[in-house]
Amino acid sequence: MNPITSTEGYAGHHAQAAYSRWAPVYDLLFDLPFHPGRLAAARAAAEAAGPGGEILVIGVGTGLELPLLPADVRATGVDISAPMLRAARLRVERGALAQVKALMVMDACALEFPDAAFDAALAPYVMSVLPQPERALDEAWRVLRPGGTLIVMNHFSAARGVRRTVERGMAGAARWLGWRPDFPYSAIGDWLAARPDARLVARRELPPLKLFTLLRIDKAAACRDARAATLATPRDASYISDAASRRL
Ligand SMILES: C[S@@+](CC[C@H](N)C(=O)[O-])C[C@H]1O[C@@H](n2cnc3c(N)ncnc32)[C@H](O)[C@@H]1O
Repeated sequence: MNPITSTEGYAGHHAQAAYSRWAPVYDLLFDLPFHPGRLAAARAAAEAAGPGGEILVIGVGTGLELPLLPADVRATGVDISAPMLRAARLRVERGALAQVKALMVMDACALEFPDAAFDAALAPYVMSVLPQPERALDEAWRVLRPGGTLIVMNHFSAARGVRRTVERGMAGAARWLGWRPDFPYSAIGDWLAARPDARLVARRELPPLKLFTLLRIDKAAACRDARAATLATPRDASYISDAASRRL
């Protein structure tokens, strides 16, 4: 069953509007509680990419993951919300974050990068925000090189208990919140099951209260997708045009 049907009225422009609204207070409300997950996800992506590796941060928001990445990686952040990205740009400037190569307004479901452009893709707290997470997963997969790694960090709805009741109760506020409190793991699990070149190699529950889950998904090195095998190498930075960089 498509896990998204219960929230089919949820659409991308709601997320865009919601995050434009959240932007001025986002760090105040969402920095500390979500920090452990960000740290674990950033470390996992950096380890997977290795020194000099290209990392795509999907739904980079105000850039809270960026200072958590080591200085020897090359991070590109994308987000649909210009106000969120403006805050990220300030963070990069103030922190002189050398690891950040570009920040770009871009839809995670229609990435403007060539195939196999990144060593690792990091999707922190974004899958439950997207109306069609499987499209963003397809796109992340396309831009990952064979042998690359996708790190997903998200909240998944509980199967039972008080948490399930609370999440169901909050589901009606999804449009206003900008994310789905009742986001099921099957949104990722069904996609994984349909990708023979994807292997879930780690699944960790994280604080606070094991509310968040980190998934490490490796892309087979011998990718059957001929396009991915023939296009840009991960260290080829030329795909970011001057025009795109100016959007930073
Ligand atoms: C919950 S925030 C997470 C931000 C950041 N990763 C963090 O850890 O704080 C989700 C982000 O996804 C962005 N977003 C929503 N829809 C998007 C889309 N279609 N493409 C790219 N980003 C999107 C929102 O603008 C928002 O900045």
